[in-house]
Amino acid sequence: MTSSEDGHVVRDAAPADVDAIMDIESTGISHPWDRDSIEALINNVNKEALVVSTEGGQTVGYIGASYVLDEAEIGNICIYPEYRGKGLGRELLLSLESSLKAQGVHKIFLEVEAQNTGAIALYEHSGYQRYNVRSNYYGKGRDAVLYVKNI
Ligand SMILES: CC(C)(COP(=O)(O)OP(=O)(O)OC[C@H]1O[C@@H](n2cnc3c(N)ncnc32)[C@H](O)[C@@H]1OP(=O)(O)O)[C@@H](O)C(=O)NCCC(=O)NCCS
Repeated sequence: MTSSEDGHVVRDAAPADVDAIMDIESTGISHPWDRDSIEALINNVNKEALVVSTEGGQTVGYIGASYVLDEAEIGNICIYPEYRGKGLGRELLLSLESSLKAQGVHKIFLEVEAQNTGAIALYEHSGYQRYNVRSNYYGKGRDAVLYVKNI
């Protein structure tokens, strides 16, 4: 768990966070995960989920990843719209990288829709390298861009 001057806290996601995660996803993810997938993310080995909450205890963002041996894949990251642009996404990403590194992960993969300039800025400013594009991956004219980072 890490806490900061303005009182927000990054910690492991707990079963009590599932409703909040589903609500956060409904505001920002075009293909949100269902409850079972979020519960699996929180409870299963080889999966890592972190949330960020405010000083008042409201969960306002989360990130989730799966890993096998030394490779991980980030599934989703999302911050409530009113909390974006404050560095919380970056903090979640860096905290996830630290947690994964402690589990022996050395390489992180992710995919993001080519038009998602906010997420792409976050990843590129955080050291992720673009290595491929999958045309029409999210539907006609909606390409996926693939990124990797060695940690
Ligand atoms: C992508 C997302 C998680 C970023 O979270 P955030 O808390 O707003 O990001 P941060 O404030 O930590 O910003 C990190 C960096 O990304 C940049 N960035 C973030 N959003 C941006 C935007 N919309 N446009 C341009 N740059 C942006 C910031 O400028 C910052 O760059 P810096 O290195 O110059 O400081 C957030 O926009 C979100 O929840 N989006 C909807 C869900 C989503 O698309 N998830 C990704 C699915 S792959």
